[in-house]
Amino acid sequence: MANIIDGKAISAAIRAEIKQETEIFAKENGFRPGLAVIIVGEDPASQVYVRNKRRACEEVGFYSEAYELPAETTQEELNTLVDKLNANEKIHGILCQLPLPKHLDENEVILRIDPKKDVDAFHPVNVGRIMIGDYSFLPCTPAGVMALLERSGIEISGKECVVVGRSNIVGKPQAMLLLHANGTVTICHSRTKNLAEVCRRADILVAAIGKADFFTGDMVKEGAVVIDVGMNRRADGKLTGDVDFESVAPKASYITPVPGGVGPMTITMLMKNTLTAAKLSVK
Ligand code: GUN
Repeated sequence: MANIIDGKAISAAIRAEIKQETEIFAKENGFRPGLAVIIVGEDPASQVYVRNKRRACEEVGFYSEAYELPAETTQEELNTLVDKLNANEKIHGILCQLPLPKHLDENEVILRIDPKKDVDAFHPVNVGRIMIGDYSFLPCTPAGVMALLERSGIEISGKECVVVGRSNIVGKPQAMLLLHANGTVTICHSRTKNLAEVCRRADILVAAIGKADFFTGDMVKEGAVVIDVGMNRRADGKLTGDVDFESVAPKASYITPVPGGVGPMTITMLMKNTLTAAKLSVK
């Protein structure tokens, strides 16, 4: 049976470190790192995320502002808010919760956020820097995965790493981070032929396709490390990952549960980025 990677515990340990660093930063500089979170409309899942982000800010001692805008907000109004936050010295990180209502252009917002305050690392300048390997802001979810691997003592160098999913938020940056850590990286997606066969090659398998319980024991090599980035709601309302835990856990050497695996790490990495942004602002 696999070792279960406890994302809650690792996340709590990193947040405690961030809190300590924040106290030192505040003493030295006379202000605290500040994060602004924007949410447009009433998507319940987004509201939960935003609430959790505010809580995390309190926990680590950040200053935070939340902007809950009505669903009818225009692009111009949203742009004006982003411009104001770009110019606000108390704010070091800006996060606009996605997805936005359909009439708004997500790309326009991403491009408008000052890359120095782009704690999601979604701006093309930051995406490009991640590609090169010279970056300050970590893509939050993939960086959370890397921290889980690191703190569980899992070696990446030279290993077969298979990332399933090619989104801009998870799959692509995840592949880059594993590559920077000297993994041999394969990216799979919906058109991949022989997906099960490719997955069975993996020493480290990262599942990020958004399909409940998709990865089963027969797709995993004996002793593999299995990281489940999925967050799916079952018909009965229960949260479940992309990995069928029951059949995969007996074969894996390490596995992340859902909930309590990758999930708690994402916001922790956002806090880390906000601290980094504040530090860069005084350099
Ligand atoms: N929606 C779901 N995940 C994220 C995230 O990491 N950042 C933003 N801005 N929106 C999201």
